Amino acid sequence: MAEYPSKNFIAGQWREGGSEDFAEIINPANKEVLVKIKKVSQQDVKNSISAAEECFQSWKKVSNSERAEILNKISELIKERADDYAEVLSLENGKSLAEAKAELLYGAGYFDFYAGQAKQISGRVIEESTEKKLQVLKEPVGVVGMITPWNFPQAMLARKLAAAFAAGCVCVAKPDHQTPLSALLLAKICEDAGVPKAALSVLVGDSEMIGKELMESSVVKKISFTGSTRVGKLLIEQSAKTVKRLSLELGGNAPFIIFESADIDKAVEGALASKYRNSGQTCVCSNRFFVHEKILGQFKEKFSQAISELKVGSGLESSVKIGPLINQAAVDKNNKLLEDAKKKGAEVIQSHELSQKEGFFFPPTLLVSNDLEIDAFQEEIFGPISIIYPFQSEEEVLKLANSTPYGLASYFYSQDRAQIQRVHDALEFGMVGINSGRISSPLAPFGGIKESGYGREGGEEGIKEYQNLKMSLELL
Ligand code: SIN
Repeated sequence: MAEYPSKNFIAGQWREGGSEDFAEIINPANKEVLVKIKKVSQQDVKNSISAAEECFQSWKKVSNSERAEILNKISELIKERADDYAEVLSLENGKSLAEAKAELLYGAGYFDFYAGQAKQISGRVIEESTEKKLQVLKEPVGVVGMITPWNFPQAMLARKLAAAFAAGCVCVAKPDHQTPLSALLLAKICEDAGVPKAALSVLVGDSEMIGKELMESSVVKKISFTGSTRVGKLLIEQSAKTVKRLSLELGGNAPFIIFESADIDKAVEGALASKYRNSGQTCVCSNRFFVHEKILGQFKEKFSQAISELKVGSGLESSVKIGPLINQAAVDKNNKLLEDAKKKGAEVIQSHELSQKEGFFFPPTLLVSNDLEIDAFQEEIFGPISIIYPFQSEEEVLKLANSTPYGLASYFYSQDRAQIQRVHDALEFGMVGINSGRISSPLAPFGGIKESGYGREGGEEGIKEYQNLKMSLELL
C-alpha cells in the first residue's frame, strides 16, 4: 500500500499547512485515525493562488500536444499505481477495494479522454467577405478553484483537472477534509508526470475559509464544485461579486422506473448497480424506485434477495460490497429516514444483522410504501436505503418522477420501443439510463438541470467549461 500523504501540496511544494489545526483522516470502518494533516492557513491559500497565476503565464503557452503527453503520462501512472492507491482510497472513504480501484481507473479515463481533446482544440474562421474575416479562438480561463467531495475522492478531482489542464488552465483544489489522501496522491502523480510546479495546489483545511478565499479572489476566474445543492446556492450568491464562472454538480433525487414490460432480472441488476455503488453515496444513485404494480411482487422478491446477498463490512475485506458510510451524521440521517418511513407505515425489509460492527455501518434496507410524503422520497438519501412506490400508469409515474426540484440522473427499464422513446423525451433530467443502472462515462457530458446545477464534466462539452471564446474581426 502507498504511504499516507501527510502534507499539503502548496504551490508545487509538499508542506505542512500554516494553521494551528489538524485534519484527522478517519477510517470509517473502525473510526481509527489513519493520519493527521496540518491544515492550511489563509496565507497558504493566497500563496497558492498567486503562484498558480504566475505559472499560468507559461503553462498556457505549452503546446496542446505537449499537454496531451503529460495527461497521457498521468493516466499511465494512475494505472500503474492503482492497486496501491486503491487501498488508501478504500481506507479513507470506506468503499470496497474493487470499487476504489474502479474509481481510480474511471479517473484515469478522464486523462485519457482529455489528452485526445487537448490535441483537437481548434477555432474557426468566418469569411464574411473578401474584405472581412471573423476569427473565433478558444483561450484557457486561467486559475480555477476546484472543490471536490468525499464520495469520489480521486475521480471527482481527476475529471475536473483533466479537462482544465487540457484547456491550459491551472488549479487550486480543495478536497473534502475527510478524504484528502487520494487527491494528494493524484497531486503526486501530476508532479511525477511533469505538470509544472504551482499549476496545481491541493489544500487540506477549513472549507469555509478556503472557499471564501477562492470565491473572493479576482485572480481565480472560475470555480468547479461538486457537492450539495445548499452549498452550490451559496457559491452562486458569492460568485456575483467577481462575476466568476461556475460549474456546479449538485444533488439529485433520481427516479428508477420499472415498467410492466421490463426484463425483471436485468432491472434488479441495474437497480443494485445504481443504488448500492459506494453504499448508496453517489449523486446519481437511484433514490426513488417506481415499480409497476403488476410486477411489484416479482421485483420485490428478487431485489430483496439480491440485497440480502450483499456482503457488508470493511472495504478491505474480500467480497465486501457495502462498506461503512462516511461518518456518524450519515448513519444518523439514514436512521432518521428509516424511522420516518416506519412511522408512516412503510413495509421494511432488512436482512442484515450489524450489531458487531464498530464503524459507521448501516444495513442495506428495502422499504415499500404507498405514501409519497415519506421523507426518503423527497430527500437525497445518500445511503443504502431503497424505497419502492408501486404505480399504475406511465402518465402517473412520469409526473411523479419529474416532481422534484432536482434534475441530475434518472433510470428506467422497459422493452417497449415506443414507450422508451416517450419516457426518454419526458424525463426532466440531465442524464437518463435506459435499461442500464450505470450512466457515467468520461466520453459523455455528466451533469444536471434544475437545482442539480449547471455545466458539464466529461465529453467534448467538459473542456468548454475551462475555455473563454475570443472573437476578432479583421478588415483585409
Ligand atoms: C457523483 O456522485 O456525483 C459522481 C458519480 C459518477 O461520476 O459516476
